[in-house]
Amino acid sequence: MELEERITAASAGEQEELAEFTLRPQSLADYIGQKKATENLKIFIEAARMRGEPLDHVLFYGPPGLGKTTLAGIIANELGVDLRITSGPAIERAGDLAAILTNLNENDVLFIDEIHRLNRQVEEVLYSAMEDFALDIVIGKGPSARSIRLDIAKFTLIGATTRAGSLSAPLRDRFGVSCKFEMYTTEELMKIIKRSAGLLNVEVEDVSLREMAKRSRGTPRVANRILKRVRDFSQVKGDGTIDLPITEQALQALGVDPMGLESLDREILRTIIERFKGGPVGIDTIAASIGEERVTIEDVYEPYLIQAGFLHRTQKGRVVSEQAYRHLGIAFDDQQMKISIEE
Ligand code: ADE
Repeated sequence: MELEERITAASAGEQEELAEFTLRPQSLADYIGQKKATENLKIFIEAARMRGEPLDHVLFYGPPGLGKTTLAGIIANELGVDLRITSGPAIERAGDLAAILTNLNENDVLFIDEIHRLNRQVEEVLYSAMEDFALDIVIGKGPSARSIRLDIAKFTLIGATTRAGSLSAPLRDRFGVSCKFEMYTTEELMKIIKRSAGLLNVEVEDVSLREMAKRSRGTPRVANRILKRVRDFSQVKGDGTIDLPITEQALQALGVDPMGLESLDREILRTIIERFKGGPVGIDTIAASIGEERVTIEDVYEPYLIQAGFLHRTQKGRVVSEQAYRHLGIAFDDQQMKISIEE
């Protein structure tokens, strides 16, 4: 295994889920950032509570690691109901979904991560559950088959997806509220890291807070991972306090550069520059060249590369920016770039 571990990895492993859980805020008051989404949700939650009704179904969309599951947990807490967590790929058959839905209590929250990956049969069962709080179950086979309707408890579905465009229109239309998750600012990430450091009982100097935040690619999950790894370095190589030299040493060992890019980010940029003259080049070609799945590049790596200004998406494919050349220390041929964009 390479020394550089992947700090960016799309999903949290089981161990990490547990550790992350202890760092997760439990109330809206402790949740940092995503102001647009949380300010509206606060009102909808209060209104639903006052009426004693379930909150309308909510769709969360945006890149991974931005706190969608965390916010779903907070919504359930604020509503004073239970949260049940599952994911699109985990619900294989309509019966699996029926089992989950029939076990919910009145006004509970059901969180389905990666909801764009539900299969068609399961999705169709979900329609009547969301709309009428009922399940249509087919009994028997052939000409004698008949359908019966089973009422279930009123509930709130919170669906999360990294790609809102992959959701079928009938499913998308059944969500009353839709929230776009934005990447976090350095200041917001500093607050998140400071809060986590407090929970982990580790002291962090302000300059280190800023350095870790700047290198966290706008993502709390990455920020918390970096904090934990830097804490390891400070324990073993320092005196336990996280200062700037330890932070820089740890981040370098992890292969996280000053802009927060990791080896795969740099490989994507370098491949486009060296093999495709800086682009434009199609995403499938890039994926084949570096041996990664297209969806991983699109969902996990690209959002930050685009946000940070290293990569542009054009009609003809991906193009790297002059800033990417400079960052990688490769000479930028302005003329060649112009030609390839205009072609
Ligand atoms: N951990 C993950 N996301 C968070 C957020 N938005 N605020 C505070 N802690 C977090």
